[in-house]
Amino acid sequence: MSFEYAPAPESRAVVSIKPKYGHFIGGKFVAGNKHFPTVNPATEEVLSQIALAGKPEVDAAVKAARKAYVSTWSKMSGKERGKYLYRIARIMQERAREFAVLETLDNGKPIRESRDTDIPLAAAHFFYHAGWADKLEFAGVGTSPKPLGVAGQIIPWNFPLLMLAWKVAPALATGNTVVLKPAESTSLTALLFAEVCQQAELPAGVVNIVTGDGSTGALIVNHPGIDKIAFTGSTEVGKIIARAVAPTKKSVTLELGGKAANIVFEDAPIDETVEGIVNGIFFNQGHVCCAGSRLLLQENVAEEVLHKLKNRMEKIRVGDPMDKNTDVGAINSKEQLAKIVELAATGDVEGAERWSPACNLPAKGFWFAPTIFTGVTQAHRIAREEIFGPVLSVLTFRTPQEAIEKANNTPFGLSAGIWSEKGSRTLWASQQLRAGVIWANTFNKFDPTSPFGGYKESGWGREGGRHGLSAYLKGVSHE
Ligand code: NAI
Ligand code: MG
Repeated sequence: MSFEYAPAPESRAVVSIKPKYGHFIGGKFVAGNKHFPTVNPATEEVLSQIALAGKPEVDAAVKAARKAYVSTWSKMSGKERGKYLYRIARIMQERAREFAVLETLDNGKPIRESRDTDIPLAAAHFFYHAGWADKLEFAGVGTSPKPLGVAGQIIPWNFPLLMLAWKVAPALATGNTVVLKPAESTSLTALLFAEVCQQAELPAGVVNIVTGDGSTGALIVNHPGIDKIAFTGSTEVGKIIARAVAPTKKSVTLELGGKAANIVFEDAPIDETVEGIVNGIFFNQGHVCCAGSRLLLQENVAEEVLHKLKNRMEKIRVGDPMDKNTDVGAINSKEQLAKIVELAATGDVEGAERWSPACNLPAKGFWFAPTIFTGVTQAHRIAREEIFGPVLSVLTFRTPQEAIEKANNTPFGLSAGIWSEKGSRTLWASQQLRAGVIWANTFNKFDPTSPFGGYKESGWGREGGRHGLSAYLKGVSHE
């Protein structure tokens, strides 16, 4: 039996969105030159006008970051730096509701996720790194760890504030200053974070935020005044960045795409597994680089798992992201929706079988129903390419060895999931899988203490944990 839910919308009164924003450079907001709109993807409402940084703004931001690095931040003791990070973390907690509502309005993700996952994890990253700031000599990163200098950080739209935290917190803890560019469709929480930096009285220029599109990102990547590039986004842009920095002395970390296998062995606890499959692919509309987008089912349990999965999917609530009962919100942009629609259509053409539960999608905004494809083979595009949407490709296998071969048959290697009640099988499989993060009997669990990153086309380097610290220090590598 299931109950109908009455609407339970979160109030947006807690946020005040300005009609127009500038950049945050040298501790101050400076007016932009050109602007572009940012929309609420659930309604297509224009929320604000975001500034597009060109060369003069990027130059000014890099200059401010260098000045802060030389004059203050690199000279400050780790203990003092840590105090600022603790202060930022506490303010983020105090203003958590404001951040969550703003994130959901600008990104389209359910308020339940921004409130319970994105914002608490973002604060946790600052708390965690605040603790390392005065203990770097004990982190296993050398006896005299030295920062790199000015870090250029470019982030995507799927976890806007959380990706900011993944980038800014370790950079600051290790004594670097930053120039950060949020993604063009989701700049608002980064701009609110700039206010938090002011509130925390962070020395001017330690954090600079310039908004804009790929052209702004390219200006940061190619700027001679930058010592390190940290990028999260598509493999395509990751390759462009790798080529651009190859002839320079810049350090680089790249967190790119994925096509994770979520492997269900015959002895898996089926009901828990079904929850894990749903969380693996439908969390955040499937806009997750480590999403469990390839489900590998052992043949003798495939029918039962699929039956229960479809029943479970019938109960997923898709719709208003501001409603506290919503499970799946809006697709982040018109462009991303077009990409999902196009890739899903190749599934039909190549002979896979599509299924979605009945759902009433809103007339306005960008929406895609949770979808599974069965009868998928390894040659299908939907088994090989990252869809980055709520679309699951289902394949089957007979033996554990076949599962591993299929799971590793991908240009990516970011994450994987194993469902089995047998510990020895889980350990065996995790040793065979070529993926940076492997979950057992769970999926999409994140923690600032745990390094995250990929093999092959999923990227270079690790973020989070002690491994992530080394990516912002001279001459240390955990690779
Ligand atoms: P994208 O890689 O173009 O955008 C990510 C960030 O890079 C944005 O801030 C963007 O402005 C910036 N950027 C774009 N071109 C750049 C350049 N030449 N130099 C420097 N910075 C640049 O990703 P997009 O177009 O938003 O999404 C396309 C596909 O990428 C998605 O469908 C998905 O498959 C994948 N993707 C993966 C993400 C991940 O977390 N690994 C995040 C976002 C997208
Ligand atoms: Mg937006």
